[in-house]
Amino acid sequence: MDCIVVVDYGGQYAHLIARRVRECRVYSEVVHGDNAYEEITSLPPEINVKGIVLSGGPMSVFSKDAPKLDSKLIELDVPILGICFGHQLLAHAFGGKVENLGKGEYGTTYVYIEDFDDIFEGLERVEKVWMSHSDTVTSLPSEFYVLARTDLCPVAAFKHKEKPIYGVQWHPEVVHTDKGIMILKNFVFKVCKCKPEWVMEDFIEKAVEEIKREVNNGKAIIALSGGIDSSTAAVLAARAIGDRLYAVFVDHGFMREGEPEQIREYFSKTIKNFIFVDAKKRFLDRLKGITDPEQKRKIIGEEFVRVFEEVARKVGAEYLLQGTIYPDRIESGFRKFSDKIKTHHNVAGLPSKMEFKKVVEPLRDLYKDEVREIAKRLGLPNEIVYRQPFPGPGLAVRVIGEVTEEKLRIVRQADKIVREEIEKAGLARDLWQYFSVLTETKSTGIKGDARTYGYTVAVRIVESKDAMTANFAKIPYDILERISTRITNEIPEVTRVVYDITNKPPATIEWE
Ligand code: XMP
Repeated sequence: MDCIVVVDYGGQYAHLIARRVRECRVYSEVVHGDNAYEEITSLPPEINVKGIVLSGGPMSVFSKDAPKLDSKLIELDVPILGICFGHQLLAHAFGGKVENLGKGEYGTTYVYIEDFDDIFEGLERVEKVWMSHSDTVTSLPSEFYVLARTDLCPVAAFKHKEKPIYGVQWHPEVVHTDKGIMILKNFVFKVCKCKPEWVMEDFIEKAVEEIKREVNNGKAIIALSGGIDSSTAAVLAARAIGDRLYAVFVDHGFMREGEPEQIREYFSKTIKNFIFVDAKKRFLDRLKGITDPEQKRKIIGEEFVRVFEEVARKVGAEYLLQGTIYPDRIESGFRKFSDKIKTHHNVAGLPSKMEFKKVVEPLRDLYKDEVREIAKRLGLPNEIVYRQPFPGPGLAVRVIGEVTEEKLRIVRQADKIVREEIEKAGLARDLWQYFSVLTETKSTGIKGDARTYGYTVAVRIVESKDAMTANFAKIPYDILERISTRITNEIPEVTRVVYDITNKPPATIEWE
């Protein structure tokens, strides 16, 4: 299949470029900037590399540790498009001039297009684009010419006179660039001559092959949370290695109402070696007296590893499968230049502490909605495909402060009410998450003419595309009122319900 390779130089949007290419129905792989040639040349023969995109990155081409352009990439003789840092890297490598002019362009910028051939076909003379750069390409060697300028940038885009090598200073992959997708499509279809033939089935086939290849004749184990990512990875793995897969569901006692039973019901029929571990007591014991959110997450992650290790030892699995997706990796700070926000336990907990020959993550480069698409094609039931994302540490991070059985019961009941009312109102599919949080604040109330002093429940309902950013949802007041009334009526310990109206950033989606 035709493929566009994205060379990742550490830019925020390298994976977004690959995603945009996949949206054009062309397959895309992301390779590391310091090992790109080797990774490209060792791709399986069925992958036909038709073009390369050099991503942005946080470095200046003059920094001591800045990535260099591997000349072997040019010798591959396929079209190349450099974006932002990639644009500067190409200009620098060919002998152009890159300078720091003492100011940059950040955010919306207008570019003046001077050449409407190939990659800019269909654009207007002035285009609104999104930029984020401090260095600027100020002149080009004689074998290149300018395709676009801005008020600051004399070379905002360029092309080689004979070879299909291009650079653009702005980011066509972000939605803030009006005709960004048109530029990428021009590159992918007109310049690289890719055929729009890639479909999710191809991904499924490729992932199954990858799992077969990596696990070889060994046994693999996967931690199944019942969420869409690990469920999809498990079903892919079951297709690849059949009964050499052990899917383990650890019931830590922080699941939502009815969930452990649903998971057992579905997976015990779907996966031959499905193992259900009831570990409720040991998790609760370990959290006694713990109030710090990161410490809670760490303890839950560690305890999870212990339970999981015990099972792994018993079944003799040498490989670990994980349903990690791309946003999990970036928020857990897996890349050199991204900051760690929270310890997501499916990423940070397991691999570093366990003795496995290899960790296999078939969904590592995908976004949530792409995984959903695959899950549908694999025939997973709607309850899993459209299940809201749910954190690994579960309700334990939705009880603020110490976790106790009583508090878990309250938050679980409140969560059920939020779910029921949102689903009944037909809003579920448009929302990213809707849940409740049990705060540590107690307040005075009045029930049946008597003074009460009880818990405050916070309702959190957000819209998001990928959890990297989120907005609180503007839910109609009558639905919020129904939720509030039901929570205070049905849960005697609760006297007050508040609605969280904070976006992410500055808040995160979960409270802990
Ligand atoms: P935050 O709270 O960081 O959450 O804005 C972003 C998304 O990630 C989910 N989340 C987790 N998922 N393990 C997971 O698999 C975790 O430890 C974890 N913590 C948060 C959260 O529900 C939201 O969708």
